[in-house]
Amino acid sequence: MSEADIKLYNPSAAAQAAAHVSGMAAYQALVDEAERDYEGYWARLAREMLAWKTPFTKVLNSDNSPFFKWFEDGTLNASYNCLDRNVERGLGDKTAIIFEADGGEVTKVTYSELLTKTSQIANGLKSLGIVKGDRVVIYISMSIDGVAAMQACARIGATHSVVFGGFSAQSLRDRIEDTGAKAVITADFQVRGGKQLALKSIVDEAIALGGCESIRNVVVVKRTGAPINMTAGRDLWMDELTAGQSTTCEPTWVEAEHPLFLLYTSGSTGKPKGVQHSTGGYLLHAALTTKWTFDLKADDVFWCTADIGWVTGHTYITYGPLALGGTEIVFEGVPTYPDAGRFWKMIQDHKVSIFYTAPTAIRSLIKAAEANDAVHPKSYDLSSLRLLGSVGEPINPAAWEWYHLHVGGGRCPIVDTFWQTETGGHMITPLPGATPLVPGSCTLPFPGIQATVVDETGKEVPWGQGGILVVKKPWPSMIRNIWGDPERFKKSYYPEDFKGQLYLAGDGAIRDAKNGYFTITGRIDDVLNVSGHRMGTMEIESALVSCTELVAEAAVVGRPDDTTGEAICAFVVLKRPLPVGDEAKAIAKQLRDHVGKEIGPIAKPKDIRFGENLPKTRSGKIMRRLLRSIAKGETITQDTSTLENPAILGQLGQNY
Ligand code: WTA
Repeated sequence: MSEADIKLYNPSAAAQAAAHVSGMAAYQALVDEAERDYEGYWARLAREMLAWKTPFTKVLNSDNSPFFKWFEDGTLNASYNCLDRNVERGLGDKTAIIFEADGGEVTKVTYSELLTKTSQIANGLKSLGIVKGDRVVIYISMSIDGVAAMQACARIGATHSVVFGGFSAQSLRDRIEDTGAKAVITADFQVRGGKQLALKSIVDEAIALGGCESIRNVVVVKRTGAPINMTAGRDLWMDELTAGQSTTCEPTWVEAEHPLFLLYTSGSTGKPKGVQHSTGGYLLHAALTTKWTFDLKADDVFWCTADIGWVTGHTYITYGPLALGGTEIVFEGVPTYPDAGRFWKMIQDHKVSIFYTAPTAIRSLIKAAEANDAVHPKSYDLSSLRLLGSVGEPINPAAWEWYHLHVGGGRCPIVDTFWQTETGGHMITPLPGATPLVPGSCTLPFPGIQATVVDETGKEVPWGQGGILVVKKPWPSMIRNIWGDPERFKKSYYPEDFKGQLYLAGDGAIRDAKNGYFTITGRIDDVLNVSGHRMGTMEIESALVSCTELVAEAAVVGRPDDTTGEAICAFVVLKRPLPVGDEAKAIAKQLRDHVGKEIGPIAKPKDIRFGENLPKTRSGKIMRRLLRSIAKGETITQDTSTLENPAILGQLGQNY
């Protein structure tokens, strides 16, 4: 490795000495162990990291590839591993969660308290007739109740499907229908940025849209207590459900492959897909990556700022840190309320030592800090920090350097963790006591993950040459299926182009010519990444054309954005004459609101451009490359001679 060519940040001697994986030799030894005896490596870790009710004797079953099974004859319970086991090892009085509400109120729960709460919810769910294998949808904001509800489902073998609280009634309905859930757990309201926002009434709306006949009960956590409608016989308060329930609940021991959760995410085609995760393999990787990537230790205060509605919140809030007996922050609010110093103040107040957030948040906080010293990290005592993390999208080197210097005081390594909803946990990431860091690179695969870069035929390309990111071998925490759609699972992740042998991540990547470090070059499909949130262009297009009174045709592309990474840009043909000026603005607003209603506010296009038609090839295909150039404001260099109506280029140049 040539250190002269690139700027390397080496772990400090102290960080290295204390780390779980200390030094590159230790990293390499793990990689070699996995190379030598792949199944033996994962079996060893599965035994070391997890408590099994029935030990497994089989490790990997590839008989029905790509429907791989891991540890299939072992049984365990995820909630037992996260709660009881910590109480049994003497951590009952240790703080599990420090919850900070939007308004700043702090509530703490110990492992014993969280176990009691979880058990009571679990017993409550049982009393509603929910049994192993049933699905439960959770539509709630960041809260101890949210984490406990997920744990309670895991405890009784019910498969949870958390729906981010920013999704609309329509999106929620689609997910309820697809899962066939028996119950929804929600709250009366959520509070974000000083505002009370609806939750329960959106559940009502979703159910009223139809297709949710599987739902028997809606369980409502009281967050603000403002009035809501309760449907008799169907809706009940969480407090009432759990009052009088036993504080203990024998865990339901499930097979390692039992689906722990479904989490919906966007692909390039069709509706969002229900990514199905296992119990054993998933929990192993959640715990192991929390240990090695975040180097979590007994006295750390860990803070992952993601929402439990996303996979990052599942793995690095609900499961990973709790499986290790860690202390973690759960934050209800937003980074900019009451001001953009909120994260820094919370790190200071709670003496956070490990902080994990998204590049979008960092970029927006940089802007705020540069405009106002009071919300600059330098105005806070951040000396408790020892490790920083980044996730969700590529982190640009400038944001990396700022994060390193101003938040990490130049002393904290940054783990830039590449992974996906489908991978369950980190795939390519530095280990903080081992890997020399390069800003903008997620560095090297996690030990045991066999990632590489190939061309369209599946052949590995040399370092220094860009290509398609794939994983060569199945790994324990990988997606098991798309709920109810095995064919789509195969097609999406194990395509025929690669003879069904390689896991297709959907991202492009390039390895550094000298040291083999990976840099993710972005999605190679029609998935956008806006503020670290995944969205399919087709989903947004469908939402736009579902505004049938206005929209004749729509095409959506992404364009680079300084803060959100990518921004959504919609090209729309209306069923009425081309609007201009204020009228165009008003229609653009109407369309944004419509998309907000169909999917959720995160899917609202930032740019809307109107044309009398869309640029198409002779065969009628929308010229997306051209649209991307227009979206970026580039001068058009593509051949536009085939355009029937060249005037539309001028029309689409206007952004509303
Ligand atoms: C992108 C979030 C670059 C990538 C955990 C991936 C990243 C998608 C990184 C998954 C990173 C995530 N560097 N790109 N460190 N982390 N991505 O399913 O495009 O919400 O395919 O999972 O985010 O997004 P998802």
